[in-house]
Amino acid sequence: MGAARHGRGAMSSTLLADALGRPLRDLRISLTDRCNFRCHYCMPAEVFGEHYEFLPREELLTFEEIERLARLLVETGVKKIRLTGGEPLLRRGVAELVERLAGIEGVEDIALTTNGYLLDRHARELRAAGLHRLTISLDSMDDGVFQAMNGRDYSLDKVLGGIAAATAAGFESLKINCVVQCGANDHTFVELARHFKGSGHIVRFIEFMDVGTRNEWEFEQVVAAKEIRERIDAEMPLEAVSPNYRGEVASRYAYRDGTGEIGVIASVTQPFCGDCGRLRLSTDGRFIGCLFAADGISLRDPMRAGAEDEKVRELIAGAWGARRDRYSEERATRPESNGQEPVERKIEMYQIGG
Ligand code: GTP
Ligand code: 5AD
Ligand code: SF4
Ligand code: SF4
Repeated sequence: MGAARHGRGAMSSTLLADALGRPLRDLRISLTDRCNFRCHYCMPAEVFGEHYEFLPREELLTFEEIERLARLLVETGVKKIRLTGGEPLLRRGVAELVERLAGIEGVEDIALTTNGYLLDRHARELRAAGLHRLTISLDSMDDGVFQAMNGRDYSLDKVLGGIAAATAAGFESLKINCVVQCGANDHTFVELARHFKGSGHIVRFIEFMDVGTRNEWEFEQVVAAKEIRERIDAEMPLEAVSPNYRGEVASRYAYRDGTGEIGVIASVTQPFCGDCGRLRLSTDGRFIGCLFAADGISLRDPMRAGAEDEKVRELIAGAWGARRDRYSEERATRPESNGQEPVERKIEMYQIGG
């Protein structure tokens, strides 16, 4: 395990580097594996029925455990934290957790990814608790398409209400994430871009990925980021703009008429593993080095067995130091079976939140 000097503005700190020299920069924490939606690309309703057994409560990291791990990770140089799920707003007391995390010295950015369905009732308290940014998953502005994609026939109104509540609560520029899947919403994504053009919010279009084992991914269902960009550009001209920060996942494009920007996330056709400094904590406290990992070491179990901070720090440093994951780049070099890894076991998206 080595250490890398990595400057961020005027501040510069010594960060943990993995086996490929990538510094640990971002922490993404899954607060629950449950979700009120059943998006086919993540948690298909046929598999995750009414009686599907999610993790029992005692398996989840407690807020105290999350805060402790976040503090230790921030000491190693992490400045950015994202809360995810499943659907994080299903976890009781999220605002309280945000407040605890915002109180950790050195945290510069706390964001949360939600499907927006419960946002109308949570936006104000999240803002008051110190949440900096919100990302809302929204795959289409066509109600029929949206209902089909969320797998529960939920209509758009609640999510649009959530977006309005977030704006009213003071979240100025939201990110709207849209997974583009051929045959599902590839005929409505230009309209989604148009809807938010000029709103101050940034829509990001994400290539459908082969995460998890349940979404029956096929390369044919991926709409390449290049095509997404070209189809939007044909109607609303775009120009490339430089990244906001090192390792930014989305490529940015601004509308030439100055009415905002979009992002495209080309995880399949142009993988970005080379600069991936993202550590994910699964709902049950495993250290997950990659979206496509099979597993990760538990940090929860040693903590519950009484491990001191020093021991937990060692586990984190050891796991990050050994990290060699670069799944998406490797997939791109495998022409057989559309490049998908022929493994049975991959962690599911709803356990690590994207
Ligand atoms: P910002 O901090 O706002 O830039 O957010 P972000 O783009 O880093 O995070 P977000 O969760 O919004 O990422 C959007 C989507 O990109 C995720 O839902 C994933 O689908 C995909 N994504 C994010 N990080 C990774 C990654 O490390 N690997 C891969 N393959 N996809 C990722
Ligand atoms: N492909 C791409 N993105 C996905 N997400 C979930 N499953 C997939 C997938 N198969 C992302 C979506 C969602 C976030 C929580 O995870 O962006 O908004
Ligand atoms: Fe739920 Fe998000 Fe997965 Fe959809 S993508 S099922 S909203 S966790
Ligand atoms: Fe990072 Fe894994 Fe995604 Fe590559 S595939 S960018 S290593 S999470």
